[in-house]
Amino acid sequence: MERITLHDKCFVPFITSTAIHERVALMAAAINHDYKGRKPLLLAILNGSFIFAADLFRQLTIDAEISFIKLSSYSGTTSAGQVATAIGLAEDVQGRDIIIVEDIIDTGKTLHSFLPQLMQQGVASVAIAAFLTKPAALVYDVQASYFGFAIENRFVVGYGLDYNGLGRNVPSLFVLDEE
Ligand code: IMP
Ligand code: MG
Repeated sequence: MERITLHDKCFVPFITSTAIHERVALMAAAINHDYKGRKPLLLAILNGSFIFAADLFRQLTIDAEISFIKLSSYSGTTSAGQVATAIGLAEDVQGRDIIIVEDIIDTGKTLHSFLPQLMQQGVASVAIAAFLTKPAALVYDVQASYFGFAIENRFVVGYGLDYNGLGRNVPSLFVLDEE
């Protein structure tokens, strides 16, 4: 496979689409097992998770619903500082088993500020399904119950993840060439 250029940066092949699909199938199998007899509501965080969410959701054999939300950050005046607000959350989440679907947990900041908001709305349970995690970059206490790959602290694109808007349509994962 060749290297690709997005804007001003070069990326080299990192994880093949075959390996990605194997991992996503395993994640779906685990969710099918764990949520048997329940009806989870998947909340997919836009934009990055849309391809992962589509692949994961298609492999769920249990009853499940999905909704797509956007988290927009703004500087609050509270001591917490940045707060993520959910846009597009129309469903009543009270009493629901929620599975948050994220492309990648980097510092954990986004989900760290979103999770309490879900809790306040009286959800029955919350789990996180993250396609990628970067353990070395984690700052906030956010743990994925399901993840595809734990990767080193490098910048990746493809499979929904972008570099300034580009690269989401690349079917496999590429990593920034730091040479
Ligand atoms: P966090 O709030 O620091 O966990 O950031 C998570 C968000 O940062 C993800 O949903 C991505 O949009 C973005 N992000 C973090 N690392 C990468 C990366 O390596 N490539 C592309 N986007 C990334
Ligand atoms: Mg994202």
